[in-house]
Amino acid sequence: MLHHFSTLQVIILAAGKGTRMASNQPKVLHQVLGKSMLEHVLHTAEDLQPESVCLVAGHGIEEVKAHIGEPENLFWAEQKEQLGTGHAVLQAEVLPSVADTVLIVCGDTPLLTNETLAKLIKAHQKHKAVVSVLSAKVDNPQGYGRIVRDADSNVTNIVEEKDATDKQRQIQEVSSGIFCVNREALFSYLHQVGNDNAQGEYYLPDILPLALADGKLVQAVIMDDSSEMLGINDRIQLSQAESVMQRRILSEWQQKGVTIEQAETVRIEASVNIGMDCTIKAGTQLLGSTHLGDDCTVGPYAVLQNSWLADGITIAPFSHLEETSIGDDATVGPFARLRPGARLDDKVKIGNFVEVKKAVIGQGSKVNHLSYIGDTIMGEDCNIGAGTITCNYDGANKHQTIIGDGVFVGSDTKLVAPVQVGSGATIGAGSIITKQVQQNGLTLSARPEQRHVKNWIRPKKGDK
Ligand code: UD1
Ligand code: CA
Repeated sequence: MLHHFSTLQVIILAAGKGTRMASNQPKVLHQVLGKSMLEHVLHTAEDLQPESVCLVAGHGIEEVKAHIGEPENLFWAEQKEQLGTGHAVLQAEVLPSVADTVLIVCGDTPLLTNETLAKLIKAHQKHKAVVSVLSAKVDNPQGYGRIVRDADSNVTNIVEEKDATDKQRQIQEVSSGIFCVNREALFSYLHQVGNDNAQGEYYLPDILPLALADGKLVQAVIMDDSSEMLGINDRIQLSQAESVMQRRILSEWQQKGVTIEQAETVRIEASVNIGMDCTIKAGTQLLGSTHLGDDCTVGPYAVLQNSWLADGITIAPFSHLEETSIGDDATVGPFARLRPGARLDDKVKIGNFVEVKKAVIGQGSKVNHLSYIGDTIMGEDCNIGAGTITCNYDGANKHQTIIGDGVFVGSDTKLVAPVQVGSGATIGAGSIITKQVQQNGLTLSARPEQRHVKNWIRPKKGDK
């Protein structure tokens, strides 16, 4: 169950360059299990159903905008120069908002969950705090801002690593960089924050001592699972985040009735959907927007990208599917390749070493061995013999092959498109079909005469 907060404004900070990624792409557009880290954060923010979301972008803002598009209730603020997290938040001041509470999250923490953010917001509202920071207790606090508490364990400050004394560096409670703040107080304090620190930046955490000096309530809310706040600064952390998220996604599907064999070898991306009683076998990758209905078996070692599968389908080992859709009880593979626009109806069988592209295959039809079917519309209950090729390309243009119902195509037939085959037709093995094939009856192209050479002797090894 998701937690909702309608009087909330969310500000996502995503203006930084991400130098440590060593990339031409803005950091927040790098993907974690098929979704950019910014999309992960944005979707988690949207799940809170806030009044509005503000994205502070700067470095690569055009790319970031193109990537995110124009979701409802999303506003953009531009931070032209990256002068620090406090300065970044200030860029959102001009945006219209009637929210009384602001949640500030970073675009580089994709593992955050709805529950954890809800816990922070609820604690903020319950205690009537002015500033609440989400903190975590960690074994290795390196790189994070440290939460400084007084003898009564009240929070007094957040000190960045570069500004910390040796003693403060020992503190193991760190700031996640996520804050919940009263909106009016936030901007009034931010205008007072200076940049007299080791990095010469305007630090968002510096609103904390200002609020305290003002006699306001400030608190740190400790998160249950510190792995959620992993901030991605380089590609090592990117792969750590993938591992954490992958374990989460796999156990979610397992709880919903999906069997996953050798789970540590399987990749299931964040936007994938899987029905009940499916079995995902070793080395399989379910990518992008792939959808599986109920009772499907996939793999081992199958790759499915943006593909839609109905119920009861078997995808046998080493098959590769990309932008395909498949009806109930069909079977595919082993070693099949379904390319974009392959649409298999119910009970279709696609066998080994068969490639299908931009083709509709009607219910119950079989293409079992070593074929290429491209730019084709095929009816129901056809049997396409081994090695059948639709010759769809003349070097410049693609042409269509249209096959009726109940057609039997003999092995090693070439269908030179554009060409049509009438329902019920049988085509003899080895035919080269260049003209329309009549309904029913047998059609075959001229065959080379078969000869017999009676006295021919097969050479043996060692013959000179
Ligand atoms: C920040 C916090 C630190 C916290 C840590 C948690 C500050 C000063 N430090 O450090 O206390 O423990 O996060 O991960 O807040 N950004 C902008 N504009 C800027 C600077 C940053 O938009 O001018 C954005 C970045 O794109 C990023 C986020 O703010 O998404 C955090 O910035 P980053 O430089 O990664 O801060 P940290 O050093 O990790
Ligand atoms: Ca960071």
